Amino acid sequence: MQKTKVAIVGMGTVGSGVAQLLLDHGDRTARHAGRVLWLEKVVVRDKSKARLADLPEDVLTDNLQDVLDDPDITVVAQLIGGLEPARSIMLQLLEAGKDIVTANKALLAEHGPELFEKARQLGRSIAFEASVAGGIPIITNISQCLSANQLSSLEGILNGTSNFIVTQMDRLGMPYDQAVKIAQEKGYAEADPTMDVDGTDAAQKLAILAHLAFGAHVSWRDIPRVGIDQLDPADLQYARELGYRIKLLATAHLDQAGLELHVAPTLVRAGLPLAEVQDAFNAIAVVGDAVGPVFYHGLGAGQMPTASAVVADIIDTAVGRTKLTFQTLELFSSAGPPRVRLRA
Ligand code: NAP
Ligand code: HSE
Repeated sequence: MQKTKVAIVGMGTVGSGVAQLLLDHGDRTARHAGRVLWLEKVVVRDKSKARLADLPEDVLTDNLQDVLDDPDITVVAQLIGGLEPARSIMLQLLEAGKDIVTANKALLAEHGPELFEKARQLGRSIAFEASVAGGIPIITNISQCLSANQLSSLEGILNGTSNFIVTQMDRLGMPYDQAVKIAQEKGYAEADPTMDVDGTDAAQKLAILAHLAFGAHVSWRDIPRVGIDQLDPADLQYARELGYRIKLLATAHLDQAGLELHVAPTLVRAGLPLAEVQDAFNAIAVVGDAVGPVFYHGLGAGQMPTASAVVADIIDTAVGRTKLTFQTLELFSSAGPPRVRLRA
């Protein structure tokens, strides 16, 4: 059986889940990939910090150079959050000839064009299924499965932390601060949870989906956004009395006037699928001109659902199924966007 040697950079919530999946089930991939995945190195900042009990000692390193210099490591999961040093590390990995898998949507939303252009120049790939909606394969679905369609609408609950907080407040009457704390403990929240609750994370994910679904070159900063941080428990109660739920929706609508994008707490009629999405689940409703309405639902944050998407990307990369990435490169760098009308 052939072996693909894999490295992980960043062993936090997601990195630990990916390492665990590879250690426990690196051979499970054989049925898909005809080869096993082998965890060769994990790059961390602090080697003395407690890690997975069954991680062999020689796998752990605090020196990125160990990965850059090893030609047998062909795929690297870059799982550090934020912009730097994540961006510089991605560039170094590409220069060293590595294909990359990442869950870092903030980095892609900010520096996607630069990173994809570099990958294109060097003939490398960047796969990023885990960057939007965790375990829901929405990137692959929009880019490949629905590629025969012109989408007219996309409405999503794209931030698991916000949905967790709102549902705890709504159902259990839990205070906002306590719900934020639990979301952090469960590993749903970003290192800076402000980005979850102020709509930034959802806007970054919407910018990525808008590239893929509509060919729109939109900076996440230009997407009007309101988070759940201004919600009052009374808002949730009044909505409930009127037969609605409040959900943080990321919305894209395309019509003849252009594409409208925004992120905002939104009244959704009780009983509709989006209204019933609980806890850290995400959901996305899309409408295509051929397929009609399609609804996706699954865990959008958390260790193992996210690891599931990262490892699937590693398998795809290992067997050269990088079509998605190159298709995406076209969208990021050259496709003509529709006229974009942003909501005032
Ligand atoms: P996290 O728990 O904060 O983990 C990030 C890890 O990166 C930390 O362990 C940190 O080390 C490490 N790190 C930072 N700088 C480093 C460096 N220079 N060299 C080596 N390691 C370094 O974050 P996470 O939740 O795993 O998220 C990782 C990425 O996945 C983020 O981009 C996030 O947005 C994305 N994501 C997360 C989820 C989720 O549910 N958590 C879901 C989808 C996508 P220390 O331990 O020393 O701080
Ligand atoms: N902080 C993010 C969320 C992680 O809560 O949705 C998944 O991208």
